[in-house]
Amino acid sequence: MAAAVGTWAFSMPAVDKARRLLEVGSGASAAVQEAITELENDKETGCFVVGRGGFPNKAGVVQCDAAIMEGLPGRFGAVAALPGVGTPLTVAQMVMDKSEHNMLVGEGAVAFAKEQGFRIEDNSDMMTEASLAAYEEFLQSRKSPPKNHDTLGLIVLDEMENITVGVSTSGAPFKDPGRVGDSPLPGCGLYADNRAGAAAGATGDGDKIMCFCPSFHVVQLMKQGLSPGDACQSVIQDICHRVGNKDIFEIGLIALNMKHPLSEAFI
Ligand code: GLY
Repeated sequence: MAAAVGTWAFSMPAVDKARRLLEVGSGASAAVQEAITELENDKETGCFVVGRGGFPNKAGVVQCDAAIMEGLPGRFGAVAALPGVGTPLTVAQMVMDKSEHNMLVGEGAVAFAKEQGFRIEDNSDMMTEASLAAYEEFLQSRKSPPKNHDTLGLIVLDEMENITVGVSTSGAPFKDPGRVGDSPLPGCGLYADNRAGAAAGATGDGDKIMCFCPSFHVVQLMKQGLSPGDACQSVIQDICHRVGNKDIFEIGLIALNMKHPLSEAFI
């Protein structure tokens, strides 16, 4: 049974698009790429900390992280701290398909994107009036950066029983230049295994999330027979027990197995 699931309400256009593509026979990876690209490139969704229009780093530059993983072994590609590209997920997919490596960052990711025909845009084209105003406010107040950032995560299962997960984010608002969050890290921001399902540790405080490999953990629990919902709850409970109430942080997980329609869990 084909299915698509995404993070938060703002992902609904991407989920709908993926479902429409599945209806006309698209494969899981193509659906993830097309659906995420549309949202990444839409300045209006930048306020959800995704792609074009996302919040810049401390130096005023929008740097994006994105990754894609298929359920087949070894099929993973990612970019991190990539400036000047409004559709970073497509660059990540090209890293998976065309590079001899799996993850490229910063200037190396820029060089690879150029080789693949992407135009590296001026940072001003990546900003909106809203993100510029937020940055100017940050420069004046120097208040701690807000930690309520979101990420777009999308999991798609196609009729051929291929599962693919993609994630894209501009990362923590006003982060240090070069900071990489959990999203593009395999096992942390995303994981997929055709024998079990896929998960995205798709939103929340990436500096904390990356210490727990939650996406890998969810998929391993689904492999042991837990439903997506129970697997997400179990991973979140495990994290809660380890960090304690005082140090609790925000994390949102989505998961999809090869049978169940969908599950989400948040703390
Ligand atoms: N969870 C996204 C980030 O921290 O970059």
